[in-house]
Amino acid sequence: MAMLNNAPRDSFGSKIGVIAAAAGSAVGLGNIWRFPYVAGENGGGAFLLIYLGFILAIGFPVMLAELTIGRRAQLNALGSFKKLAPGKPWYLVGLMGIVAAFLILAFYSTIAGWTLEYLVQAIGNGFSGKSSDALKESFETFQSGSFRPLLWQVIFMFMTGYIVYSGVKKGIEKYAKILMPILLLLIIVMTIRSVTLPGAEGGLNFLFKPDFSKITWPVILDALGQAAFSLSIGMGTLITYGSYIQKDNPLPNIALQVTAADTLMAILAGVMIFPAVFAFNIDPAEGFGLVFIVLPNIFVQMAGGYFFAILFFTLLAIAALTSTVSVLEVVVAYFSEELNMSRNKATIIGSVGITIVGVFATLSFGPLSDFIIFGKTLFGWFDYLSANVLLPIGALMIVLFVGWFMGKAHVKAEITNEGSLKVKMFPVFLWIVRLLAPIAIAVVFLYGINVLKF
Ligand code: TRP
Repeated sequence: MAMLNNAPRDSFGSKIGVIAAAAGSAVGLGNIWRFPYVAGENGGGAFLLIYLGFILAIGFPVMLAELTIGRRAQLNALGSFKKLAPGKPWYLVGLMGIVAAFLILAFYSTIAGWTLEYLVQAIGNGFSGKSSDALKESFETFQSGSFRPLLWQVIFMFMTGYIVYSGVKKGIEKYAKILMPILLLLIIVMTIRSVTLPGAEGGLNFLFKPDFSKITWPVILDALGQAAFSLSIGMGTLITYGSYIQKDNPLPNIALQVTAADTLMAILAGVMIFPAVFAFNIDPAEGFGLVFIVLPNIFVQMAGGYFFAILFFTLLAIAALTSTVSVLEVVVAYFSEELNMSRNKATIIGSVGITIVGVFATLSFGPLSDFIIFGKTLFGWFDYLSANVLLPIGALMIVLFVGWFMGKAHVKAEITNEGSLKVKMFPVFLWIVRLLAPIAIAVVFLYGINVLKF
Protein backbone atom coordinates (compact mmCIF):
# COMPACT_ATOMS: atom_id res chain seq x y z
CA MET A 1 0.00 0.00 0.00
CA ALA A 2 2.40 2.66 -1.16
CA MET A 3 0.02 5.42 -0.34
CA LEU A 4 2.64 8.13 -0.30
CA ASN A 5 3.49 7.55 -3.94
CA ASN A 6 2.26 10.91 -5.00
CA ALA A 7 3.07 12.88 -1.89
CA PRO A 8 6.24 14.99 -2.06
CA ARG A 9 9.11 13.07 -0.48
CA ASP A 10 11.96 14.53 1.48
CA SER A 11 15.21 14.72 -0.48
CA PHE A 12 18.83 15.67 -0.16
CA GLY A 13 19.55 19.26 -1.09
CA SER A 14 22.83 19.07 -3.00
CA LYS A 15 25.34 16.64 -4.42
CA ILE A 16 27.84 17.41 -1.69
CA GLY A 17 25.06 16.80 0.82
CA VAL A 18 24.35 13.39 -0.72
CA ILE A 19 28.02 12.47 -0.58
CA ALA A 20 28.32 13.62 3.02
CA ALA A 21 25.21 11.71 4.07
CA ALA A 22 26.14 8.53 2.19
CA ALA A 23 29.74 8.75 3.41
CA GLY A 24 28.29 9.41 6.86
CA SER A 25 26.43 6.12 6.53
CA ALA A 26 29.43 4.24 5.19
CA VAL A 27 32.07 5.66 7.51
CA GLY A 28 31.34 4.54 11.02
CA LEU A 29 32.15 1.90 13.56
CA GLY A 30 32.61 -0.45 10.62
CA ASN A 31 35.79 1.40 9.72
CA ILE A 32 37.21 2.27 13.10
CA TRP A 33 35.96 -0.53 15.33
CA ARG A 34 35.09 -3.46 13.06
CA PHE A 35 37.73 -3.27 10.35
CA PRO A 36 40.73 -3.41 12.72
CA TYR A 37 39.34 -6.24 14.82
CA VAL A 38 38.30 -8.38 11.85
CA ALA A 39 41.60 -7.70 10.07
CA GLY A 40 43.43 -8.50 13.31
CA GLU A 41 41.65 -11.81 13.71
CA ASN A 42 42.36 -12.71 10.10
CA GLY A 43 46.08 -12.10 9.99
CA GLY A 44 46.32 -8.51 8.71
CA GLY A 45 47.97 -7.85 5.35
CA ALA A 46 46.52 -10.61 3.23
CA PHE A 47 43.07 -9.78 4.57
CA LEU A 48 43.52 -6.12 3.63
CA LEU A 49 44.47 -7.06 0.09
CA ILE A 50 41.40 -9.26 -0.42
CA TYR A 51 39.23 -6.62 1.22
CA LEU A 52 40.45 -3.99 -1.24
CA GLY A 53 39.80 -6.35 -4.13
CA PHE A 54 36.20 -6.81 -2.99
CA ILE A 55 35.69 -3.08 -2.53
CA LEU A 56 36.65 -2.48 -6.16
CA ALA A 57 35.11 -5.47 -7.87
CA ILE A 58 31.96 -5.84 -5.81
CA GLY A 59 31.51 -2.98 -3.37
CA PHE A 60 31.52 -0.11 -5.79
CA PRO A 61 29.27 -1.76 -8.41
CA VAL A 62 26.77 -2.87 -5.76
CA MET A 63 26.69 0.63 -4.30
CA LEU A 64 25.94 2.07 -7.72
CA ALA A 65 23.32 -0.63 -8.33
CA GLU A 66 21.55 0.18 -5.06
CA LEU A 67 21.51 3.91 -5.69
CA THR A 68 20.13 3.18 -9.16
CA ILE A 69 17.25 1.08 -7.84
CA GLY A 70 16.33 3.64 -5.21
CA ARG A 71 16.43 6.68 -7.42
CA ARG A 72 14.54 4.91 -10.21
CA ALA A 73 11.74 3.85 -7.90
CA GLN A 74 11.71 6.83 -5.50
CA LEU A 75 10.64 4.55 -2.68
CA ASN A 76 11.85 2.68 0.40
CA ALA A 77 13.85 -0.56 0.04
CA LEU A 78 10.86 -2.87 -0.14
CA GLY A 79 8.57 -0.53 -2.06
CA SER A 80 11.28 -0.02 -4.66
CA PHE A 81 11.34 -3.71 -5.56
CA LYS A 82 7.55 -3.86 -5.58
CA LYS A 83 7.35 -0.91 -7.91
CA LEU A 84 10.07 -2.05 -10.31
CA ALA A 85 9.01 -5.70 -10.27
CA PRO A 86 5.26 -5.73 -9.64
CA GLY A 87 3.83 -9.09 -8.68
CA LYS A 88 7.26 -10.72 -8.44
CA PRO A 89 8.95 -12.04 -5.30
CA TRP A 90 11.81 -9.50 -5.51
CA TYR A 91 10.24 -7.53 -2.66
CA LEU A 92 11.55 -10.31 -0.40
CA VAL A 93 15.01 -8.82 -0.90
CA GLY A 94 13.67 -5.62 0.61
CA LEU A 95 12.11 -7.54 3.45
CA MET A 96 15.41 -9.26 4.15
CA GLY A 97 16.96 -5.80 4.31
CA ILE A 98 14.50 -4.77 7.00
CA VAL A 99 15.40 -7.85 9.04
CA ALA A 100 19.11 -7.13 8.52
CA ALA A 101 18.55 -3.56 9.69
CA PHE A 102 17.14 -4.85 12.98
CA LEU A 103 20.08 -7.20 13.53
CA ILE A 104 22.73 -4.69 12.55
CA LEU A 105 21.37 -1.86 14.61
CA ALA A 106 20.86 -4.17 17.56
CA PHE A 107 24.55 -4.96 17.90
CA TYR A 108 25.82 -1.70 16.44
CA SER A 109 24.04 0.26 19.14
CA THR A 110 25.85 -1.80 21.77
CA ILE A 111 29.22 -0.60 20.46
CA ALA A 112 27.91 2.89 19.80
CA GLY A 113 26.93 2.97 23.46
CA TRP A 114 30.49 2.01 24.41
CA THR A 115 31.74 5.09 22.56
CA LEU A 116 29.58 7.27 24.84
CA GLU A 117 30.93 5.56 27.96
CA TYR A 118 34.45 6.18 26.69
CA LEU A 119 33.63 9.78 25.93
CA VAL A 120 32.49 10.27 29.50
CA GLN A 121 35.59 8.52 30.82
CA ALA A 122 37.74 10.74 28.62
CA ILE A 123 36.07 13.85 30.00
CA GLY A 124 36.69 12.60 33.54
CA ASN A 125 40.36 11.98 32.67
CA GLY A 126 39.74 8.31 33.33
CA PHE A 127 42.61 6.87 31.30
CA SER A 128 45.45 8.89 32.74
CA GLY A 129 48.13 7.05 34.67
CA LYS A 130 46.74 3.63 33.76
CA SER A 131 48.99 0.90 32.41
CA SER A 132 48.00 -0.98 29.32
CA ASP A 133 46.91 -3.92 31.47
CA ALA A 134 44.81 -1.67 33.64
CA LEU A 135 43.13 -0.15 30.60
CA LYS A 136 42.31 -3.60 29.32
CA GLU A 137 40.91 -4.62 32.65
CA SER A 138 38.73 -1.58 33.03
CA PHE A 139 37.32 -2.15 29.56
CA GLU A 140 36.46 -5.73 30.41
CA THR A 141 34.81 -4.73 33.65
CA PHE A 142 32.70 -2.13 31.89
CA GLN A 143 31.52 -4.25 28.97
CA SER A 144 30.63 -7.24 31.11
CA GLY A 145 28.31 -5.15 33.26
CA SER A 146 24.64 -4.61 32.54
CA PHE A 147 23.44 -1.25 33.73
CA ARG A 148 25.90 1.15 32.13
CA PRO A 149 26.18 -0.55 28.74
CA LEU A 150 22.39 -0.78 28.52
CA LEU A 151 21.91 2.79 29.59
CA TRP A 152 24.31 4.03 26.90
CA GLN A 153 22.69 1.84 24.29
CA VAL A 154 19.26 3.24 25.06
CA ILE A 155 20.62 6.79 25.01
CA PHE A 156 22.27 6.16 21.67
CA MET A 157 19.12 4.71 20.16
CA PHE A 158 17.22 7.70 21.47
CA MET A 159 19.64 10.07 19.72
CA THR A 160 19.33 8.05 16.52
CA GLY A 161 15.55 8.09 16.73
CA TYR A 162 15.53 11.81 17.40
CA ILE A 163 17.47 12.63 14.23
CA VAL A 164 15.42 10.32 12.04
CA TYR A 165 12.29 11.79 13.59
CA SER A 166 13.33 15.28 12.45
CA GLY A 167 13.55 14.20 8.80
CA VAL A 168 16.09 13.58 6.07
CA LYS A 169 17.39 16.90 4.86
CA LYS A 170 17.97 19.06 7.88
CA GLY A 171 19.47 16.62 10.35
CA ILE A 172 21.54 14.05 8.48
CA GLU A 173 22.73 16.16 5.60
CA LYS A 174 23.63 19.26 7.53
CA TYR A 175 25.59 17.57 10.30
CA ALA A 176 27.34 15.13 8.01
CA LYS A 177 28.76 18.00 5.97
CA ILE A 178 30.35 19.58 9.00
CA LEU A 179 31.43 16.50 10.87
CA MET A 180 32.92 14.20 8.28
CA PRO A 181 35.91 16.47 7.43
CA ILE A 182 36.69 16.95 11.11
CA LEU A 183 36.65 13.21 11.64
CA LEU A 184 39.13 12.78 8.80
CA LEU A 185 41.44 15.39 10.27
CA LEU A 186 41.40 13.77 13.68
CA ILE A 187 42.11 10.32 12.36
CA ILE A 188 45.11 11.72 10.50
CA VAL A 189 46.46 13.32 13.69
CA MET A 190 45.94 10.10 15.64
CA THR A 191 47.54 8.08 12.88
CA ILE A 192 50.64 10.23 12.95
CA ARG A 193 50.93 9.79 16.72
CA SER A 194 50.49 6.06 16.38
CA VAL A 195 53.10 5.49 13.65
CA THR A 196 55.68 7.50 15.56
CA LEU A 197 55.39 5.28 18.64
CA PRO A 198 58.47 3.17 19.33
CA GLY A 199 57.87 -0.31 17.90
CA ALA A 200 55.35 0.86 15.34
CA GLU A 201 56.95 -1.08 12.46
CA GLY A 202 55.56 -4.34 13.77
CA GLY A 203 52.07 -2.99 13.27
CA LEU A 204 52.73 -1.62 9.82
CA ASN A 205 54.25 -4.93 8.76
CA PHE A 206 51.26 -6.75 10.13
CA LEU A 207 48.88 -4.56 8.14
CA PHE A 208 50.79 -4.20 4.89
CA LYS A 209 52.91 -7.35 4.49
CA PRO A 210 50.53 -10.03 3.31
CA ASP A 211 51.09 -13.50 4.67
CA PHE A 212 49.18 -15.62 2.20
CA SER A 213 49.34 -18.70 4.37
CA LYS A 214 46.63 -17.03 6.47
CA ILE A 215 44.07 -17.13 3.69
CA THR A 216 41.24 -19.61 3.95
CA TRP A 217 37.66 -19.48 2.65
CA PRO A 218 36.26 -18.21 5.96
CA VAL A 219 38.85 -15.42 5.88
CA ILE A 220 37.79 -14.51 2.35
CA LEU A 221 34.14 -14.48 3.43
CA ASP A 222 35.07 -12.22 6.35
CA ALA A 223 36.70 -9.83 3.87
CA LEU A 224 33.58 -9.80 1.69
CA GLY A 225 31.33 -9.31 4.71
CA GLN A 226 33.50 -6.49 6.00
CA ALA A 227 33.54 -4.79 2.58
CA ALA A 228 29.75 -4.95 2.38
CA PHE A 229 29.29 -3.83 5.97
CA SER A 230 31.68 -0.94 5.65
CA LEU A 231 30.14 0.39 2.44
CA SER A 232 26.60 0.01 3.85
CA ILE A 233 25.59 -2.17 0.91
CA GLY A 234 23.35 -5.21 0.63
CA MET A 235 20.66 -4.06 3.00
CA GLY A 236 18.73 -1.30 1.31
CA THR A 237 20.35 1.66 3.04
CA LEU A 238 21.60 2.95 -0.28
CA ILE A 239 18.32 2.14 -2.02
CA THR A 240 16.62 4.31 0.57
CA TYR A 241 19.21 7.08 0.33
CA GLY A 242 19.19 6.76 -3.46
CA SER A 243 15.48 7.48 -3.42
CA TYR A 244 16.26 10.88 -1.86
CA ILE A 245 18.83 11.87 -4.51
CA GLN A 246 17.75 14.48 -7.00
CA LYS A 247 17.46 13.43 -10.62
CA ASP A 248 20.30 15.62 -11.91
CA ASN A 249 22.96 14.31 -9.52
CA PRO A 250 25.52 11.92 -11.08
CA LEU A 251 25.21 8.52 -9.40
CA PRO A 252 28.51 6.99 -10.61
CA ASN A 253 30.49 9.93 -9.31
CA ILE A 254 28.68 9.83 -5.96
CA ALA A 255 29.28 6.10 -5.59
CA LEU A 256 32.96 6.54 -6.44
CA GLN A 257 33.54 9.32 -3.93
CA VAL A 258 31.72 7.51 -1.15
CA THR A 259 33.63 4.29 -1.83
CA ALA A 260 36.93 6.17 -1.85
CA ALA A 261 36.17 8.04 1.38
CA ASP A 262 35.12 4.87 3.16
CA THR A 263 38.17 2.92 2.03
CA LEU A 264 40.54 5.70 2.98
CA MET A 265 39.02 5.84 6.45
CA ALA A 266 39.35 2.07 6.93
CA ILE A 267 43.00 2.10 5.91
CA LEU A 268 43.74 5.09 8.12
CA ALA A 269 42.00 3.37 11.00
CA GLY A 270 44.23 0.34 10.44
CA VAL A 271 47.33 2.52 10.34
CA MET A 272 46.14 4.21 13.51
CA ILE A 273 45.44 1.01 15.42
CA PHE A 274 48.03 -1.62 14.51
CA PRO A 275 51.25 0.25 15.32
CA ALA A 276 49.79 0.97 18.74
CA VAL A 277 48.66 -2.65 19.11
CA PHE A 278 52.22 -3.79 18.59
CA ALA A 279 53.82 -0.96 20.55
CA PHE A 280 51.71 -1.85 23.61
CA ASN A 281 51.95 -5.62 23.24
CA ILE A 282 48.28 -6.19 22.70
CA ASP A 283 47.10 -9.25 20.78
CA PRO A 284 45.87 -8.07 17.34
CA ALA A 285 43.25 -10.84 17.53
CA GLU A 286 41.86 -9.31 20.73
CA GLY A 287 38.44 -9.06 19.07
CA PHE A 288 35.49 -6.75 19.72
CA GLY A 289 37.32 -4.68 22.33
CA LEU A 290 40.40 -3.92 20.26
CA VAL A 291 40.01 -0.18 19.69
CA PHE A 292 38.65 0.46 23.17
CA ILE A 293 41.82 -0.94 24.67
CA VAL A 294 44.31 0.39 22.14
CA LEU A 295 43.16 3.97 21.70
CA PRO A 296 43.23 4.91 25.39
CA ASN A 297 46.77 3.58 25.40
CA ILE A 298 47.71 6.10 22.72
CA PHE A 299 45.97 8.94 24.54
CA VAL A 300 47.84 8.23 27.73
CA GLN A 301 51.14 8.50 25.80
CA MET A 302 50.39 11.52 23.71
CA ALA A 303 50.89 15.21 24.36
CA GLY A 304 47.46 16.74 24.73
CA GLY A 305 46.04 13.24 25.08
CA TYR A 306 43.28 14.43 27.39
CA PHE A 307 42.02 16.83 24.79
CA PHE A 308 42.36 14.42 21.87
CA ALA A 309 40.62 11.63 23.73
CA ILE A 310 37.56 13.80 24.19
CA LEU A 311 37.57 14.94 20.60
CA PHE A 312 38.15 11.47 19.31
CA PHE A 313 35.36 9.74 21.21
CA THR A 314 33.01 12.60 20.38
CA LEU A 315 33.73 12.09 16.73
CA LEU A 316 33.58 8.31 16.97
CA ALA A 317 30.13 8.64 18.50
CA ILE A 318 29.14 11.03 15.74
CA ALA A 319 30.52 8.76 13.03
CA ALA A 320 28.47 5.98 14.57
CA LEU A 321 25.41 8.22 14.73
CA THR A 322 25.44 9.15 11.03
CA SER A 323 25.54 5.39 10.38
CA THR A 324 22.84 4.30 12.84
CA VAL A 325 20.60 7.00 11.43
CA SER A 326 21.00 5.49 7.97
CA VAL A 327 20.06 2.03 9.20
CA LEU A 328 17.02 3.25 11.13
CA GLU A 329 15.93 5.28 8.11
CA VAL A 330 15.54 2.02 6.15
CA VAL A 331 13.06 0.72 8.71
CA VAL A 332 11.26 4.02 9.10
CA ALA A 333 10.88 4.61 5.35
CA TYR A 334 9.49 1.09 5.05
CA PHE A 335 7.06 1.40 7.98
CA SER A 336 5.79 4.77 6.88
CA GLU A 337 5.46 4.13 3.14
CA GLU A 338 4.39 0.51 3.13
CA LEU A 339 2.58 0.07 6.41
CA ASN A 340 0.76 3.37 6.29
CA MET A 341 2.18 4.79 9.50
CA SER A 342 3.06 8.37 10.16
CA ARG A 343 6.80 8.97 10.08
CA ASN A 344 6.77 9.75 13.76
CA LYS A 345 4.99 6.58 14.75
CA ALA A 346 7.27 4.58 12.44
CA THR A 347 10.32 6.08 14.12
CA ILE A 348 9.11 5.28 17.61
CA ILE A 349 8.06 1.72 16.80
CA GLY A 350 11.25 1.06 14.85
CA SER A 351 13.60 2.45 17.51
CA VAL A 352 11.88 0.71 20.39
CA GLY A 353 11.73 -2.62 18.54
CA ILE A 354 15.40 -2.46 17.64
CA THR A 355 16.40 -1.44 21.16
CA ILE A 356 14.62 -4.48 22.56
CA VAL A 357 16.59 -6.79 20.26
CA GLY A 358 19.70 -4.76 21.06
CA VAL A 359 19.43 -5.46 24.79
CA PHE A 360 20.26 -9.10 24.06
CA ALA A 361 23.32 -8.08 22.07
CA THR A 362 24.57 -5.90 24.92
CA LEU A 363 23.90 -8.47 27.62
CA SER A 364 25.82 -11.11 25.70
CA PHE A 365 29.01 -9.52 27.03
CA GLY A 366 27.77 -9.85 30.60
CA PRO A 367 24.93 -11.95 32.05
CA LEU A 368 24.35 -13.76 28.74
CA SER A 369 28.02 -14.40 27.99
CA ASP A 370 27.63 -18.10 28.74
CA PHE A 371 24.81 -18.38 26.24
CA ILE A 372 26.93 -19.75 23.43
CA ILE A 373 25.48 -21.27 20.29
CA PHE A 374 28.00 -23.03 18.02
CA GLY A 375 30.88 -21.09 19.51
CA LYS A 376 29.38 -17.61 19.31
CA THR A 377 27.46 -15.38 21.68
CA LEU A 378 24.26 -13.68 20.54
CA PHE A 379 26.26 -10.56 19.74
CA GLY A 380 28.69 -12.68 17.75
CA TRP A 381 25.80 -14.19 15.80
CA PHE A 382 24.15 -10.85 15.06
CA ASP A 383 27.45 -9.54 13.77
CA TYR A 384 28.30 -12.66 11.76
CA LEU A 385 24.83 -13.29 10.36
CA SER A 386 24.28 -9.76 9.21
CA ALA A 387 27.70 -9.09 7.69
CA ASN A 388 28.62 -12.53 6.41
CA VAL A 389 25.21 -13.93 5.48
CA LEU A 390 22.48 -11.32 4.98
CA LEU A 391 24.61 -8.62 3.35
CA PRO A 392 26.27 -10.95 0.82
CA ILE A 393 22.90 -12.49 -0.10
CA GLY A 394 21.38 -9.01 -0.32
CA ALA A 395 24.24 -7.78 -2.49
CA LEU A 396 23.91 -10.84 -4.73
CA MET A 397 20.20 -10.26 -5.23
CA ILE A 398 20.72 -6.57 -5.92
CA VAL A 399 23.28 -7.14 -8.67
CA LEU A 400 21.15 -9.87 -10.21
CA PHE A 401 18.16 -7.57 -10.14
CA VAL A 402 19.97 -4.68 -11.79
CA GLY A 403 21.93 -6.90 -14.17
CA TRP A 404 19.17 -9.16 -15.40
CA PHE A 405 15.77 -7.98 -14.30
CA MET A 406 15.48 -4.22 -14.24
CA GLY A 407 16.15 -3.90 -17.95
CA LYS A 408 19.29 -2.48 -19.49
CA ALA A 409 17.51 0.57 -20.87
CA HIS A 410 16.14 1.56 -17.44
CA VAL A 411 19.47 0.99 -15.74
CA LYS A 412 21.31 2.99 -18.35
CA ALA A 413 18.77 5.79 -18.26
CA GLU A 414 19.07 6.11 -14.49
CA ILE A 415 22.86 5.93 -14.40
CA THR A 416 23.31 8.43 -17.23
CA ASN A 417 20.56 10.78 -16.01
CA GLU A 418 18.38 9.97 -19.01
CA GLY A 419 21.31 10.20 -21.39
CA SER A 420 22.67 13.58 -20.32
CA LEU A 421 25.72 12.08 -18.58
CA LYS A 422 28.42 10.20 -20.44
CA VAL A 423 29.29 7.03 -18.57
CA LYS A 424 32.01 5.33 -20.57
CA MET A 425 32.34 2.52 -18.07
CA PHE A 426 28.70 1.49 -18.39
CA PRO A 427 29.45 -1.72 -20.34
CA VAL A 428 32.01 -2.66 -17.68
CA PHE A 429 29.49 -2.00 -14.95
CA LEU A 430 26.91 -4.13 -16.72
CA TRP A 431 29.37 -6.95 -17.14
CA ILE A 432 30.26 -6.81 -13.46
CA VAL A 433 26.68 -6.78 -12.17
CA ARG A 434 25.62 -9.49 -14.59
CA LEU A 435 28.45 -11.97 -14.17
CA LEU A 436 31.55 -11.11 -12.21
CA ALA A 437 29.93 -9.89 -8.99
CA PRO A 438 27.19 -12.56 -8.77
CA ILE A 439 29.64 -15.39 -9.38
CA ALA A 440 32.23 -13.99 -6.99
CA ILE A 441 29.71 -13.39 -4.21
CA ALA A 442 28.09 -16.80 -4.65
CA VAL A 443 31.39 -18.67 -4.64
CA VAL A 444 32.83 -16.82 -1.65
CA PHE A 445 29.61 -17.17 0.28
CA LEU A 446 29.12 -20.87 -0.38
CA TYR A 447 32.75 -21.76 0.29
CA GLY A 448 32.95 -19.42 3.26
CA ILE A 449 30.02 -20.92 5.10
CA ASN A 450 31.32 -24.35 4.14
CA VAL A 451 28.55 -25.50 1.88
CA LEU A 452 30.75 -26.17 -1.09
CA LYS A 453 33.56 -28.55 -0.35
CA PHE A 454 35.85 -29.90 -3.02
N1 TRP B 1 28.70 1.17 7.09
C1 TRP B 1 28.47 1.52 8.45
C2 TRP B 1 29.78 1.42 9.18
O1 TRP B 1 30.76 1.03 8.59
C3 TRP B 1 27.39 0.71 9.10
C4 TRP B 1 26.16 0.68 8.27
C5 TRP B 1 25.32 1.69 8.03
C6 TRP B 1 25.69 -0.41 7.52
N2 TRP B 1 24.33 1.28 7.18
C7 TRP B 1 24.54 0.02 6.84
C8 TRP B 1 26.15 -1.69 7.35
C9 TRP B 1 23.89 -0.85 5.99
C10 TRP B 1 25.49 -2.54 6.51
C11 TRP B 1 24.36 -2.13 5.80
O2 TRP B 1 29.87 1.71 10.33
